[in-house]
Amino acid sequence: MTAAAQFIDVSRTFGDFTAVGSLNLDIPEGRITTLLGPSGCGKTTTLRMLAGYTAPSSGTIRIAGEDATRLPPEKRNLGMVFQSYALFPHMSVADNVGYGLKLRRIPAAERRSRVAEALDLVGLGHLAAQRPRKLSGGQQQRVALARAIAIRPSLLLLDEPLSNLDARLRVQMRAEIRRIQAETGLTVVLVTHDQDEALEMSDVMVLMRAGHVMQSGSPAEVFPRPANRFVAEFLGYENFVPASLSASDGATTLTVRPEHLEVVQGEAPDGARLALPATVTGIAYRGVDRHLTLSAPRGEGEDDVTLIATVRADHSRADWRPGDRVTVSARPEHVVELAD
Ligand SMILES: Nc1ncnc2c1ncn2[C@@H]1O[C@H](COP(=O)(O)OP(=O)(O)OP(=O)(O)O)[C@@H](O)[C@H]1O
Ligand SMILES: [Mg+2]
Repeated sequence: MTAAAQFIDVSRTFGDFTAVGSLNLDIPEGRITTLLGPSGCGKTTTLRMLAGYTAPSSGTIRIAGEDATRLPPEKRNLGMVFQSYALFPHMSVADNVGYGLKLRRIPAAERRSRVAEALDLVGLGHLAAQRPRKLSGGQQQRVALARAIAIRPSLLLLDEPLSNLDARLRVQMRAEIRRIQAETGLTVVLVTHDQDEALEMSDVMVLMRAGHVMQSGSPAEVFPRPANRFVAEFLGYENFVPASLSASDGATTLTVRPEHLEVVQGEAPDGARLALPATVTGIAYRGVDRHLTLSAPRGEGEDDVTLIATVRADHSRADWRPGDRVTVSARPEHVVELAD
């Protein structure tokens, strides 16, 4: 894969605080790369360094193979969309979208055709003459996207562009951005702290913590095989079992997603990797699912292990009750070994 941009040993400190430390990262061309991680982990700082708004304290940033570390933002040919999409209220939608083209002194005729093209791409051609305040949040967000795309950027940088939208619109816009990316072949870097958004939108997802990359890869690589406990927790794994409770070599902790735990009365099914005796301590009813909280004893003098299992309601038998003694198990392919 060709890299549209590269971070080579890039750090950024503020005083003696390291916001980003020794970052090595390739942004593949024509793909969506997401930077994912909790608040304060350095996502925006990373994006701002790529855009040229924040200078690295050390290291090199390459864009299209060239050293761009000290290149000013306007020479980087980037489109950006932020959380607050900051449209100009006194300008029409079309003028907003054409703003970057005007700055670049693109002739009026070409400007008009590029604005029309960008608005068509986001499905807002019919609103070209409107003022932004007459548009819904989602429409305004599309205008911001069209404005960033109209300049034909070599990189499109999106910093939590959907976080101001309501939940339904957010999900709709995910698909929209994917479609636009596929149609244009743009290289996109998207910042998010929403794991679902990252899983749905990424070709490559980069999980960050405290200025460092914890794991990167496609969702299909990362999701089933989190590299460590931080990534596992961030991706919604909930059960962390000391490896001493099950045969395993090297790992210190085993983890299984709640929907992959099986709960039975009696013996664990044949071939199960984990088989822990446990007691049901809580039940939450969620439509067709039951969320069971379970407690598995660990050994003399040690706290019990708490487990969460999502199981389908089984109407052929009585429902689970607190105090039920059960066996909690998981199939080998669903058990992830963590080294830390
Ligand atoms: N200009 C600055 N001066 C001092 N500290 C800063 C500055 N910019 C960022 N930081 C610090 O660097 C760390 C990373 O900030 P950054 O904005 O990159 O995080 P983020 O991952 O984008 O978080 P969020 O999800 O909240 O947007 C934070 O602790 C932040 O307080
Ligand atoms: Mg941020």
